[in-house]
Amino acid sequence: MTPDVSSSGVNDSFEAASLMSPNLSLPMPSVHHPDAPLRLGIMASGSGSNFECIAQAIANSELNAQIQVMVYNNPNAKAAARADRLGIPKVLLNHRDFPSRESLDEAIVTVMQNHQVEWIIMAGWMRVVTQVLIQAFPRRTLNIHPSLLPSFPGVKAVEQALTAGVKIAGCTVHYVELEVDSGPIIIQAAVPVLPNDTVETLHARIQVQEHLIYPKGIALAASASTQPRP
Ligand code: GRF
Repeated sequence: MTPDVSSSGVNDSFEAASLMSPNLSLPMPSVHHPDAPLRLGIMASGSGSNFECIAQAIANSELNAQIQVMVYNNPNAKAAARADRLGIPKVLLNHRDFPSRESLDEAIVTVMQNHQVEWIIMAGWMRVVTQVLIQAFPRRTLNIHPSLLPSFPGVKAVEQALTAGVKIAGCTVHYVELEVDSGPIIIQAAVPVLPNDTVETLHARIQVQEHLIYPKGIALAASASTQPRP
């Protein structure tokens, strides 16, 4: 990809190292049926800040989509309160109530299908997903990861980056495949690692960029999809 050195207008962004696709300086790509918003199903386990930023991008008409439902697995997830505040339906599927990863994924697929979801958007989902989910939504399941993949997949990605001593970190929106954090990359953004960074300060800098690229990544994936819309 060609580096895009245009300003994002965000403090602490590392403009010269931005890895965003060059066509992102153009208007958001249109989806197959411009009048029909993408029907998104969110999966979240924690804070849900990406979930809310996607909802905000929709409200600002930056993304032609609607969030049909937010599935969460942790009863204490702050994402649940965000869903209530945003007026978005939420469904708790506590992984502790399911005997296997596959059975949890079957329940998720059922909820998503019952809510007419087209695209599954994993936004801080902290469980490994199985073929059950991926096959039900082939090339229609996206994830965001707080590293410049393929570097630092898996858990504690920000800590891995600090430990490795990299000078540039970032985030990646990608298609979900069976191997964790391995699917084709849709969009990335980079940030500098500063000398006194902690996991918290670096993650906060990365999250500013996550909130910018996830709505763009969803639109890019939709515009690139060759499948008929379900
Ligand atoms: C993000 O850093 C994302 O990259 C990772 O989990 C975090 C979720 O943050 N997969 P939030 O819940 O969206 O605030």
